[in-house]
Order: sequence, then C-alpha cells, then structure tokens
Amino acid sequence: MNPTPQTAHAASRVLCVALNPAIDQTVEITHLRVGSVNRATRAQQDAGGKGVNVASCLADYGVPTAVVALLGAENPALFESLFASKGVVNRSIYLDGATRINIKLVEPAGQETTDINLPGPYLDSVQITGRIAQILDLIGELSGSLQWLVLSGSLPPGWPVDTYAILIHHARSLGVRTLLDTSGAPFGEALKAGPDIVKPNRDELAAHLGRPLHDSVDTLSAAHDLLAAHAGLGKVVVSMGSEGAILISRDAAVLAQPLKVAASSSVGAGDAMVAGLIAAELQALPLAETAQLATAFAAGKLSRLGPHLPVPSEVQALARQVVISALG
Ligand SMILES: Nc1ncnc2c1ncn2[C@@H]1O[C@H](COP(=O)(O)OP(=O)(O)OP(=O)(O)O)[C@@H](O)[C@H]1O
Ligand SMILES: [Mg+2]
Repeated sequence: MNPTPQTAHAASRVLCVALNPAIDQTVEITHLRVGSVNRATRAQQDAGGKGVNVASCLADYGVPTAVVALLGAENPALFESLFASKGVVNRSIYLDGATRINIKLVEPAGQETTDINLPGPYLDSVQITGRIAQILDLIGELSGSLQWLVLSGSLPPGWPVDTYAILIHHARSLGVRTLLDTSGAPFGEALKAGPDIVKPNRDELAAHLGRPLHDSVDTLSAAHDLLAAHAGLGKVVVSMGSEGAILISRDAAVLAQPLKVAASSSVGAGDAMVAGLIAAELQALPLAETAQLATAFAAGKLSRLGPHLPVPSEVQALARQVVISALG
C-alpha cells in the first residue's frame, strides 16, 4: 500500500533493526568464464538485508514503521529511496565506507549462480560499543509510541554475540515487545534475554537444539522445548519453507499450510512472515488468524521480486485461504 500522509508521519509503532544490510547486485551472464572478459546481459541492484525487508513489508501493509540500518555513507541511495517511497521512517546510522555488496553472477541457461560477497564497513570495538549505545538511545526516544522491536539477521563481523540480548533487555525495561529472527550464537544469547516471539526456520532451530528435525512432529516438540526452557517467551514460530509453519503459544499450537504460489523469488519469505506476525500482534489476533496472516504475507512476497507485498485487501484475501490445523 502506498502510505497515506497520515501513516507516513504517524508515530512509529515498530522499529526494525538492520545491523548487517547489503546491496544485492544481480549480474546476468550467458556463460561465465573465469579469467576472461565477461559481458553482462542484465544487471540490477536492490537494497537488501532482513531488517530492511521486514520494514518494507510492514510499510506496504500500512503499519507505521521505522528502521535503523547501519549504512555505509558512500552508497545509501538505494536504501533511502526504498524507505522514502514506502514512508518508512529512516533512523539509520551512517558509517564511513560503503554498505557491503553481494554480487550474484547468474547464468540463466545452466541455472547456476556464483556469489561474491564484498566486506562491509569496518568498526573497532569502541566504535561498535558507541553504535549500540546509539541504538539503545533511539529505542528510548521512540518508546512512547513503539510497541515492537524487530531484531533480524546476522550480526556484522566483530559485533558482540550478546548485542541482540542487550537490545532486548533495554526494550523490555521500556515496555517494548521484541521479535527475534536470527541464528547461531546470537540467537542463543538473545533467547536468554527473553524476547516475546522467536521465528527460527527449521534448520536454525535444529542447529540451536543440536538435533535434527526431520518432520513436523519433531519440529512441534522442538518448539515446545524452546517455550518450556524460556519463561519470558510468548510464541515460537518455526517456518518450514514449502511445508508451511508451526506456531505455538502458551495455550495453543497450529500448523499453517503454505499457499500455492507461482514464486518469483524465494528470498525474504521468512522476513515477510516476520512482518505478518507483527501486523497480527498489533491487531491482537488469535493464534490461528496470526498464522493465516503471517502465511499470507509470505505468499504475497513470494509472488514478487524484492521485499514487496500486494495491497492489504489482497493480503487479507490470501489470509482467508490459508488452511490451519490445530496441533495436539
Ligand atoms: N516454496 C514455497 N512455497 C510456498 N510457500 C513457501 C515456500 N517457501 C516458503 N514459503 C512460505 O514462507 C514461509 C517462510 O519461509 P521459510 O521457512 O523458507 O523462511 P526462512 O527460511 O526464514 O526464509 P528467509 O530467511 O530466507 O526469509 C513458509 O512458512 C511458507 O509459508
Ligand atoms: Mg529466515
């Protein structure tokens, strides 16, 4: 949805943190030959990164959203124009250097992709501490209107493993709820700080628990284990790609079947699902309807290139089609 002037200027209800954004540069080459001159047939640059995707989808649904991304001052234009076009309030921190660029060399015939990921801006530990303090201040500044803080994606190299834990503690002390979508050690540390919702995918949850999750039975019991181990956690949402998602709260558990979509791009389906979970929380929807809306966000995004949703009425129509079953 194109934000109306009211939503564009309304006080932000959600702040999305994007510590490790990237520019995705897709370059199409008929036959890639290493060591010789290659001519591209097509090239495209998109602002990317999980927190950026979540903010973009929330804004499409009309939710007043702010973003704090760590952007290189040399190449912020793609991000700035994305935020401006959607009415996302840009509270980004600008760093010396350039935002990292992830180059995807695509060979359409062989369906092969070669990835070259460039490094991002470098910060020493004193600078990192200063940036974390800036984000803590921003959460405080916005806390009057802020209801949710969304922490998604990896930490940049050198950032303390408890960065998300620090942000969660601070948000809780201000009455701001938190959704966490990350993996590995930062996920484990942040869980101890008591986020309200976590959304690992099945592989991320398996890695955290140190055991394989073969099917939805395994996944449901893993989600219950997580909820049981962390008293502050209100919901666990485990996305399972083309197998849908399991959502559990303290008193209910559901399986949401995915919608059949002609996918344009599978990138960011999980990020759209995170945005849908937040949209559902802001409306205090019951678990089954939350599952429907989150799945509809994912399906809506899958039908487009980039982190964009169809208009809200279309997303709501998709949500009504999502099949939900209660789990024991
Ligand atoms: N191939 C697919 N067909 C239909 N729906 C899908 C497909 N892949 C993903 N989805 C939908 O998107 C949701 C989230 O997908 P997934 O589990 O892949 O997230 P993710 O691994 O966190 O993705 P990412 O982090 O790349 O955004 C799923 O629960 C499902 O509803
Ligand atoms: Mg994900």
